Amino acid sequence: MAALNGAVENGQPDRKVPPLPRPLRGLEVKYTKIFINNEWHESTSGKKFPTYNPSTLEKICDIEEGDKPDVDNAVEAAKAAFQRGSPWRQMDALSRGRLLHKLADLLERDRVILATLETMDTGKPFLQAYFIDLEGCIKTLRYYAGWADKIQGRTIPVDDNFVCFTRHEPMGVCGAITPWNFPLLMLVWKMAPALCCGNTLVIKPAEQAPLTSLYIGSLVKEVGFPPGVVNIVPGYGPTAGAAISTHHSIDKIAFTGSTKVGKLIKEAASKSNLKRVTLELGGKNPCIVCADADLDLAVECAHQGVFFNQGQCCTAASRVFVEEQIYPEFVKRSVEYAKKRLVGDPFDARTEQGPQIDQNQFDKILELIESGKKEGAKLECGGLAIEDRGLFIKPTVFSEVTDNMRIAKEEIFGPVQPIMKFKSIEEVIRRANSTEYGLTAAVFTKNLDRALTLASALQSGTVWINCYNALYAQAPFGGFKMSGNGRELGEYALAEYTEVKTVTIKLSQKSP
Ligand code: NAI
Ligand code: MG
Repeated sequence: MAALNGAVENGQPDRKVPPLPRPLRGLEVKYTKIFINNEWHESTSGKKFPTYNPSTLEKICDIEEGDKPDVDNAVEAAKAAFQRGSPWRQMDALSRGRLLHKLADLLERDRVILATLETMDTGKPFLQAYFIDLEGCIKTLRYYAGWADKIQGRTIPVDDNFVCFTRHEPMGVCGAITPWNFPLLMLVWKMAPALCCGNTLVIKPAEQAPLTSLYIGSLVKEVGFPPGVVNIVPGYGPTAGAAISTHHSIDKIAFTGSTKVGKLIKEAASKSNLKRVTLELGGKNPCIVCADADLDLAVECAHQGVFFNQGQCCTAASRVFVEEQIYPEFVKRSVEYAKKRLVGDPFDARTEQGPQIDQNQFDKILELIESGKKEGAKLECGGLAIEDRGLFIKPTVFSEVTDNMRIAKEEIFGPVQPIMKFKSIEEVIRRANSTEYGLTAAVFTKNLDRALTLASALQSGTVWINCYNALYAQAPFGGFKMSGNGRELGEYALAEYTEVKTVTIKLSQKSP
């Protein structure tokens, strides 16, 4: 965490550094119910489900388990809030922006609470939750708050006897199904553009980590969004999630999660009402390190790129291609980094890596590690769970990885770094692109020509040059190929939450 603290690193030990935020130990969870019409409800079925703290494997609390009848109620509320003449539809766009700014203010006020809840529920390091997840949420809300009153159509020149213009109208009721790896951030990436465009929402957070999404319900109410504009139905995927994706009165759905479920959602959309779908799915992202790269930078970025968030990132640098001249040195330094990575209590400020989210993910990662060993990759370090410590896995590095191995093909979603070797640029382009995914790619080189050749040749929604995970609210994010459909963030996301209406008016006074 030295980078966050900064002073000693910069050689200025006397400089005043603001104290690091501290988590709220023993924080009581207040919001565990279904949020519809700005009120808290019990589930229609009477069922509840547990959410766990993956660091201790203890149950945190029970959550009301939403299912189809609860989704139906949420959709009714969202539909009513979207009706012509409703307070939300009558609100001028500037006021919508002010509500989003106010929500950002409350996230700033409650930042420590939200970061604490996120750490309890997911096991991610508290300082990461505070400085990265919450920072991203606040900036995204403010960015879209600014857009609310700037969503403009166009005047289209047509035949002189006509006036033609477009309106960029909200779509209606939007469903949002979110994952557990960045529960709050992935929610805000959907919620902020959806609301700034004037839509209403039915949200289903991931069952593994619903606490911060539910807390947002209380803030939505406090801010003064009209009832029904934001509704939150916690529950499981095949029940509450499927009720959203098959619903005839939901006009659009935004999803982040597995490619398998992304396909199910698109199928459900096509079998129900052809609702619009945006999908942000997995990745098997190439990170290409050329021999002329700044090696310190490349090693550190590749390390953070794959191990960040316990490796549970769709952007994970999980195929590192290194030019053969520097391969041994790159592997050596990467192993040193991995061995130094501090794994432990995510509430400890020194911790860099917490536990995996649940037993399923933990088992999947260990199984893939075993496949790497069996298929002949060289295990440089890690390769095991940390004994007696629940869901913690040692930072793992494999060298001598070849493209046909499962660890080079499948999304691992864990702290595992597979490192491959390449000889030429043409070869690495072909290999980097030979995957069904296309989310992100990174290139490390000082040669401008190489950088730009790779930036244009790589089939992915984002290419980072000499950096990694450089994400901005104003820059679009999304995938080529099976990494998804559509874009989140930036101006591009506005198109995903608006319908374009063409209005054509015939003039009675004909041109001479
Ligand atoms: P998942 O895709 O099942 O979960 C994501 C969300 O989808 C959750 O809210 C879940 O309840 C919901 N869901 C599940 N089944 C559904 C259905 N039939 N209809 C509607 N919604 C449904 O992902 P899971 O099982 O948690 O993780 C499996 C793998 O997916 C991970 O190992 C990783 O490879 C990938 N993944 C990718 C993410 C990303 O950021 N792109 C995030 C989470 C997982
Ligand atoms: Mg949990």
